[in-house]
Amino acid sequence: MSPVAGTALEPDHAAVLDGVDQLAAGRYRSELDESGLLDVDGFIDEFDELDEGHYNADFDWDDFNPDSYRTHNYLNLRDDDTEIIRMVGAFFGKFFETPPLAGLRGLDVGSGANLYPTMAMLPFCDAIDLRDFSRSNVAWLKRQVEFYDNHWDAFWDAYGGVPAYARLQKPRHRMRKAARVDRMNIFRLPERAWDIGTMFFVAESLTRDPGEFWQATISFGRALRVGAPFAAAFMADSEGYWVGDTYFPAVAVDLAKVEDCLSVVAHKLTLTMVETDSPLRCGYGGMILATGVAR
Ligand SMILES: C[S@@+](CC[C@H](N)C(=O)[O-])C[C@H]1O[C@@H](n2cnc3c(N)ncnc32)[C@H](O)[C@@H]1O
Repeated sequence: MSPVAGTALEPDHAAVLDGVDQLAAGRYRSELDESGLLDVDGFIDEFDELDEGHYNADFDWDDFNPDSYRTHNYLNLRDDDTEIIRMVGAFFGKFFETPPLAGLRGLDVGSGANLYPTMAMLPFCDAIDLRDFSRSNVAWLKRQVEFYDNHWDAFWDAYGGVPAYARLQKPRHRMRKAARVDRMNIFRLPERAWDIGTMFFVAESLTRDPGEFWQATISFGRALRVGAPFAAAFMADSEGYWVGDTYFPAVAVDLAKVEDCLSVVAHKLTLTMVETDSPLRCGYGGMILATGVAR
């Protein structure tokens, strides 16, 4: 399916040529054959594929390979994720300086193969609902929350500068007790059901349609009770991403677009651009972290 004519996503020639240059340079994936020449057939296939879908429902999310995604993104703790963890831990730690009287119910939506957003809520929650639309991710999450892999320890340790996290001695045990994994569509989340929430690299990374980015973000905000704190992360200026051999879409957002949208459902917003000298991949311009309170 082609982008809808007349929208902001209508490809202009400069952007198309930029995409061609990036493919030719092998910046998405290597398209050069052994002789170093461009594999023209593969190149054309891939470029067609980039133009294949537009809306969330155009993509087969069950093809999302959680092991590839985890290995590429989270096998080793990166400097930008460390910075995000410190900021999110400090935000929730300060918000709950006076601990809540009862354990809260947390939501992590679009969890994919990432446990560190859920970890951010562990000290404060009796129950944390991990929700994703992809059956492959849901199956991966169900296994991991039972006893998560050792490399996640570094992520937990990065929260350790905040007393609420340092006090929690057995995070694996708490994860197993609190986490409840289920398949759910972000566009169909129940309203005002959760006390604290996280949504990392989801609303801008599930569609090429700016309207759906807005819907997903607003759906997340409305799923939280009024007064609930949240943290949400976004890839800036993303052109989409590969997981293994499968391309998934993105909407290019920046600080202003994220703030514009979040301010419909939240206040006390703080937005931070998190940059790094060693980007995760090509085709994006840093990570945006937003914290705030649902309204
Ligand atoms: C880029 S991944 C982000 C994964 C993870 N949160 C992270 O921090 O790396 C986008 C996630 O959104 C999920 N997703 C896509 N469409 C969805 C939908 N309609 N409802 C819920 N989740 C969806 C995908 O399955 C995938 O896990």
